[in-house]
Amino acid sequence: MSTVAILGSGLVGQTLAAGLRDLGHTVTIGSRTGKEIDGWDGATATFADALSGADLAVLSVKGTVAEELVASLASQLDGVVVLDTTNPIADAAPTDGVLAYFTGPNESLLERLQAAAPGARFVKAFNSVGSGLMVKPALPGGTPTMFIAGNDEGARSTAAEVIVSLGWEVEDLGSAVAARAIEPLCMLWCIPGLRDNDWAHAFKLLRP
Ligand SMILES: NC(=O)c1ccc[n+]([C@@H]2O[C@H](COP(=O)([O-])OP(=O)(O)OC[C@H]3O[C@@H](n4cnc5c(N)ncnc54)[C@H](OP(=O)(O)O)[C@@H]3O)[C@@H](O)[C@H]2O)c1
Repeated sequence: MSTVAILGSGLVGQTLAAGLRDLGHTVTIGSRTGKEIDGWDGATATFADALSGADLAVLSVKGTVAEELVASLASQLDGVVVLDTTNPIADAAPTDGVLAYFTGPNESLLERLQAAAPGARFVKAFNSVGSGLMVKPALPGGTPTMFIAGNDEGARSTAAEVIVSLGWEVEDLGSAVAARAIEPLCMLWCIPGLRDNDWAHAFKLLRP
């Protein structure tokens, strides 16, 4: 079992906090102020204090602030496996249901985060599904696929175990560069939601 720091107290942070705690992990939700969080009866702390003693973290803050936050926590993140749920969504309105990103096609937020905290072991995960389906998704089409990427093979393996325990199958796409392909999946995932308020879906990779 892991000691988990949830860095971000929004929908994603709270959902994964509850899912991981239900599996027996020791979970602290971190926020800017260490505030109490409605509906969460577990430990809360500031981002930095939540990381004390953690071997696993979930990064679940607004994408526009992720790089600066990670840089400020770089020393506490040393050696920690970080499930990076963030997306580089710009502060701009979607166009016909298509989100605007502040990154370009040949880079990713994950790579920026890895550069900002070189000792952290980032793995992109949970970025392209809604919080309502992150834990034990029950869909008629079967077990959905979580696409992951990150530079540290051991971290990807740890992440895969955690993700499978939360009810997913995992497609490991290799190094952090693959996040250039995974992060835009969030844009695709959001189009039915933003156009038709249809958010109840997840991706599945089919093979013969
Ligand atoms: N919502 C979803 O279903 C979903 C699905 C997949 C991926 N994601 C991604 O997951 C991440 C979290 O999404 P969310 O919907 O849970 O929350 P969100 O509304 O995108 O972000 C809320 C979090 O960002 C933090 N934050 C905001 N401004 C900050 C600042 N200036 N400095 C430090 N932290 C700041 C907040 O800190 P406090 O804790 O202090 O309030 C809070 O924890 C996002 O990057 C999003 O793109 C979301």
